[in-house]
Amino acid sequence: MGADMTARFTAQDVEAWERDGVTLLHDLFTPEECAAVRADFDIVFAREGAETPLNRKGEGEVGKFHPSQFKTLESPPFDCSPALNLIGAHPALVAFARAALKTDDVHLYQCQAWAKFTGDADYDQPFHCDFSNHTLTAPSEDPVKNCVTIFCYFTDVTDAHGATHYVTRPDSDKVAGPVASLNQDPEAQATLQAGLLPYSRSSASSAGTAIAYTTDVYHRGTNLTAPGGRRYAVMACFKKAGDESIGFTAWQFHHTKPWSRIFDHATPEQLACFGVQRPGDPFWTETTIARTQERYPGWNAAPYRAALAGG
Ligand SMILES: [Fe+2]
Repeated sequence: MGADMTARFTAQDVEAWERDGVTLLHDLFTPEECAAVRADFDIVFAREGAETPLNRKGEGEVGKFHPSQFKTLESPPFDCSPALNLIGAHPALVAFARAALKTDDVHLYQCQAWAKFTGDADYDQPFHCDFSNHTLTAPSEDPVKNCVTIFCYFTDVTDAHGATHYVTRPDSDKVAGPVASLNQDPEAQATLQAGLLPYSRSSASSAGTAIAYTTDVYHRGTNLTAPGGRRYAVMACFKKAGDESIGFTAWQFHHTKPWSRIFDHATPEQLACFGVQRPGDPFWTETTIARTQERYPGWNAAPYRAALAGG
């Protein structure tokens, strides 16, 4: 990789993530990287936003979850260039996840490309925490034992383009802890939503910005109202490798997808994000290398063979 990817964020960014549970990382991706990812989104989703937004809310109502909000949400691999296929395992994201989780070995347990288009849905959501579908229990109070979601914008996102709104943990603690998000009693929800609203901040930012947050941070999607608007984003979630208490996507379950798109271009470190053993791991033998090569003829097995010879 060459360049030091930790140069794309600061120690203060990591401290802010620890303290607030959420922080914006501006310019985490270069304009060139954003353009390449946008071109892939155009291929994969091949859509344009409508002129008129959709509004499903009644007078004074907060947003609700609706299946239409999640229709254009897909996981890699995709039939497109390496740009979108490997963006979730980009070295800058991996570097932040390592610093945030204080480990050298991170696993990408969720990666989703999420294209939103004006008029496809009313994207306004209630404030919620994400932990209920990342763990079967509750988020750890220790951020290092938790996980980090890094939500990356590849188009310019204004408040008319569905910028995610969020509440920092110190602010939401004045109103309610994350467990309150599980209480679906309408009155309790109304109190929670109204209590969080004054502390809400917008993540509206230019393309290349990423929002790092924990699964116990309150946030909500907002509607796209810009005529013809689109929002291209990628959600990358990392945990410490080997932590079975946190999960979302079993990559192996999606074996019919074009994995050669990833294997043919990924570095060993990027493949490790998907759970592939690094060069030098005892898993790799002449036989396992040959069988994997048969499965992915374009895969560069050289580093794995070199480590075998060296061992
Ligand atoms: Fe969420």
